[in-house]
Amino acid sequence: MATTSLLSAVSRRLEGKVAVITGGASGIGECTAKVFAHHGAKLIIADIQDALGHSLCQSIDETNCKYVHCDVTDETHVKNAVDKAVKAYGKLDIIFNNAGTSDKSYLRILKDQKNDFERVMSVNATGVFLGIKHASRVMIPARSGSIISTASVCSYIGGAASHAYTASKHAVLGLTKSAAVELGQYGIRVNCLSPYGVATPLVEKFLGRKKGDIENLFSSAANLKNVTLEAEDVANAALYLASDEARYISGHNLFVDGGYSIANPSFNMFQP
Ligand SMILES: NC(=O)c1ccc[n+]([C@@H]2O[C@H](COP(=O)([O-])OP(=O)(O)OC[C@H]3O[C@@H](n4cnc5c(N)ncnc54)[C@H](O)[C@@H]3O)[C@@H](O)[C@H]2O)c1
Repeated sequence: MATTSLLSAVSRRLEGKVAVITGGASGIGECTAKVFAHHGAKLIIADIQDALGHSLCQSIDETNCKYVHCDVTDETHVKNAVDKAVKAYGKLDIIFNNAGTSDKSYLRILKDQKNDFERVMSVNATGVFLGIKHASRVMIPARSGSIISTASVCSYIGGAASHAYTASKHAVLGLTKSAAVELGQYGIRVNCLSPYGVATPLVEKFLGRKKGDIENLFSSAANLKNVTLEAEDVANAALYLASDEARYISGHNLFVDGGYSIANPSFNMFQP
């Protein structure tokens, strides 16, 4: 009997928890919504792709998964998404600041555009700041919460994406560290995730290539071979950070990159 209840606790790792997922209508966010729901979480999907968001909620369960139109660059939208979680489910335990975008890289800074740079910073960095701010507003009185943001291997290395994208993901890491220090006193954990490449619509648009081509490209440059990184691998890392299993993990940048960002391909003594 004890074994059975332990097993069911493990299989429903977010039972009774309430989560907001920004950028939840597509890619990594969509997959995370499915994984969180499978583990018993009640969800608010916050995105700008309304049709995709609504259909995701229908496919999960509209009682426990609600869509809200939310442009993360707009503070009133982010405030509304958090408030909707509290109104619908009575509290907020988890926010996954995952909405993200990229600019078109012109591969030379002299060609890059200021307005593109600011747009990327606005979604990827300001959007995360607003998510942390408004989640904290309701988590501080509750004296608990888990704040997770999607950074990238570009939070650590240069040259894997555009200047704007790399700068924005470094900003996500900076916000994570800074907020983890402030919010620790309230029992709130703040972490980020740094995936290597997953063939999502964001990457298809950035590289102008199809899913299969992108997977081949990522596989050939990967450190870890014989396995392809998928959205579910990132979702499972978010699940860990969201769950009580990570109850003493805060201020951490969890790389989901198969060792990509610690390898230096220009000097590798272990070439196959
Ligand atoms: N796919 C990768 O290789 C990869 C690697 C590292 C990090 N990431 C990060 O993962 C996150 C998710 O991206 P993805 O790859 O799943 O791409 P995606 O395009 O499938 O999903 C991004 C989602 O964010 C939403 N979004 C964009 N701008 C928004 C805004 N202003 N307000 C609200 N929602 C907005 C989009 O509508 C979309 O649903 C992003 O933060 C991205 O930077 C992706």
